[in-house]
Amino acid sequence: MRGMRGETLTMHAPILASEGFAPVIEAQWASESACCEWATRLAACLRPTLEQGGSVDVSLDGPLGAGKTTFTRHLLRALGVAGRIKSPSYAVVETHELPGFAVHHFDFYRFNDPQEWEDAGFRDLFASPGLRLTEWPDKAAGLLPTPDLKIEIEPVSDTGRRVRLHGLSRAAAPWLEAMAQPAQPLGEPA
Ligand SMILES: Nc1ncnc2c1ncn2[C@@H]1O[C@H](COP(=O)(O)OP(=O)(O)OP(=O)(O)O)[C@@H](O)[C@H]1O
Ligand SMILES: [Mg+2]
Repeated sequence: MRGMRGETLTMHAPILASEGFAPVIEAQWASESACCEWATRLAACLRPTLEQGGSVDVSLDGPLGAGKTTFTRHLLRALGVAGRIKSPSYAVVETHELPGFAVHHFDFYRFNDPQEWEDAGFRDLFASPGLRLTEWPDKAAGLLPTPDLKIEIEPVSDTGRRVRLHGLSRAAAPWLEAMAQPAQPLGEPA
């Protein structure tokens, strides 16, 4: 199979498609290591913006157990978060401070009181620079801004996942272009 630039696409290479104005990349993760590889590449895409004081919103969609937290953990590790990375299921948000920027990992699964949005300071967190990763964004619909990236994770087998990465802002275009490149085989220079 040939890609847009005439390159040969492997089974693991993402396919660049188009949905209206919003570009979309589709990929298959055969296992958690493919999830880790994707998260690591996305972290490298986002790092310059974050280190320059920018702000990035990523929403994660998919059913219970799809891999939203797992993907986020791999991304946070790749950005330099050390130690245990707790799931924010009960606290709604877990914040990680990295040199130069903060990461806020939200899980709105149990969020049902819009007053908490104000009381817990979520409005301020969403108005600050840094990275926000949001699981179950539909549970806070109407309060959340449109994300830069929307990631949909669909389980297709025990460890197989069909993944769609939507670019919803202008800032996302170069990240999608970079993510559309086939991954470098391990051990070879980028
Ligand atoms: N290809 C894969 N990608 C990601 N996770 C995988 C994959 N294959 C298996 N898994 C496993 O699936 C589980 C995903 O759980 P995780 O907590 O990340 O899901 P979640 O989408 O965050 O669920 P929830 O909606 O409950 O928060 C983990 O145990 C992980 O090891
Ligand atoms: Mg989760």
